[in-house]
Amino acid sequence: MCGIIGYTGSENAEEILINGLHSLEYRGYDSAGVSVSTPDGIKTVKCEGRVSLLEEKLSLFGNLLGNCGIGHTRWATHGEPSERNAHPHNSESLTLVHNGIIENNGELKASLIELGYIFKSDTDTECLAHLLDSFYRKDNDPVSAIIKTVSCLKGSFAFGVIFKDHPDNIYALRKDNPLIVAEGEKGYFLASDVPALSAYAKKVCRVGENEIVCLSSDSCRFYDLQGKEFGGIFEDYDSNGFSASKDGYDYFMLKEMYEQPEAIRRAVGHRLNINGLPDFRVDNIPDSFFENIDSVSIVGCGSASHAGLVGKSIMEKIAKVPVSVNIASEYRYEPPVSYGNTLTVCISQSGETADTLAALRCSKANGSVTLGIVNVVGSTIASECDYVIYTNAGPEIAVATTKGYMTQVAVLAVIAAKISLNKNTVSETYVKEFCHELLYKIPNAVNSVLSRMDEMDLISERIKDCEYLFFIGRGSDNCAAPECSLKLKEISYIHSEAYAAGELKHGTLSLISDGVPVFALAADMKLFEKTASNIREVKSRGGYVVLACNEKIENTEAYADAVFMLPDVDPLLSPMVTVTFAQCVAYKTTLLRGYDVDHPRNLAKSVTVE
Ligand code: G6P
Repeated sequence: MCGIIGYTGSENAEEILINGLHSLEYRGYDSAGVSVSTPDGIKTVKCEGRVSLLEEKLSLFGNLLGNCGIGHTRWATHGEPSERNAHPHNSESLTLVHNGIIENNGELKASLIELGYIFKSDTDTECLAHLLDSFYRKDNDPVSAIIKTVSCLKGSFAFGVIFKDHPDNIYALRKDNPLIVAEGEKGYFLASDVPALSAYAKKVCRVGENEIVCLSSDSCRFYDLQGKEFGGIFEDYDSNGFSASKDGYDYFMLKEMYEQPEAIRRAVGHRLNINGLPDFRVDNIPDSFFENIDSVSIVGCGSASHAGLVGKSIMEKIAKVPVSVNIASEYRYEPPVSYGNTLTVCISQSGETADTLAALRCSKANGSVTLGIVNVVGSTIASECDYVIYTNAGPEIAVATTKGYMTQVAVLAVIAAKISLNKNTVSETYVKEFCHELLYKIPNAVNSVLSRMDEMDLISERIKDCEYLFFIGRGSDNCAAPECSLKLKEISYIHSEAYAAGELKHGTLSLISDGVPVFALAADMKLFEKTASNIREVKSRGGYVVLACNEKIENTEAYADAVFMLPDVDPLLSPMVTVTFAQCVAYKTTLLRGYDVDHPRNLAKSVTVE
């Protein structure tokens, strides 16, 4: 939620800030702004809309010349998206950008108004700017002003600030929101995430909770909340060959979809030993860990929880452990009843999702052992879990996750295989074949679906103007359906729902009339006969059926208006292939409807508010 960028050094700040903001747009993109220390003082330019509009505005009204600045791209929480509410927010002595929520901003605002502050925006951030200003003006000491300010704040936040008296320094702090600093050849940088700085960073440091940093062109100082200075730990930055650019693709989503086969191989391959059996020692997880698990509680949001549904199905079938899948935002109110030794698995691509983090803390407080399945190395969830398995998917930029989801499912499948092996619930031969299929056959099947992208044209053309549609399936197809449905609705804005195929007749069938599209998912051949009955129910009410089914099923035209043949794979793993199909349909349909695939309205990739 919201992207923060900062730079101080010998280069032109504006250009670096704009580049950084473009990379951070996945965190929010309803308005943007920059403040730069110029020879005429700190100048701020902001606008409603995307970073490209800010760029235009700057070139139209005069670029900001200076070597130190901060920038922000916003996802609105307090106040509508508008220039007035865009960051940076200024107070008498400073300019400030912020990510997160100041929960007690109402009471703080009332006391600041009493002190004579006039508010120009509806944001909680302006309250933070004025509060900081009120303390700074007492003793002109930035660090002490930040310490006093933080002691008054409730909520989660990361912020960067430039004081007028210190125009070449950026001060920053974070609490429950990500913030990193980087050393480059020509100065120091501040950002919400590492990929935003991949073009500049030589060394990076993840700012710790409640740590204050002060960046200058040639140094980075760290202070704790007692004002005591300490040395921050920088690590050499290596992008691992991953690039945060589109590499010639029209959209990040498309690029990331095509990266899936390789990402799956990486996620799985790292965790198989020379005998092709699962082994998590590479993640520093001892073998014995998998023997003492009586039940598993999976926690995540959005697609991460959908990955959990597939994980549950595999684990329960082959490892015979009871698994619950919990929506993270509900976890605190409806925690799962623990049964024996419960392992809590927190799934998060970003590793920063506020609800998942809160659930993780809650489960730890309840005494559960926690395992993170996380993509972003060093993220908060990764750091707070007892154990972490990185999905190694590389940076995911498109808001709609593809390779993130896919690698989460892949890792869950290897965990299921490991628990099965250690608990002897299936034979070693079975585990070996299962892992072999996951490592080789599945990436190939995903590739084969992607290579038939053109086959989606007809389907997308047919559904592009519909008001609503459905995804139905049974068994593992029912586990795939929620993710298929979410992919389509989040980027194409067509209302879509997922149902167990047998459930449609218990109410929802009343919505089926002439031409309403229903995607019938049938990767699992064994269950097709029953799903076919549900398809007939839809057809006889005039529904338009798109059948995505196992290639071995014959005579498909008899059932459906359009058919897509899915490569035949183990039904337990088939959601990976079926979801790839749905990603392609979602992508193509969104293009036809003329929307921005990478930046769906109202959404952000890293959701750091509860
Ligand atoms: C956002 C993203 C989703 C993602 C969810 C959880 O809503 O748009 O694609 O599934 O957050 O994100 P996480 O980073 O925790 O996997």
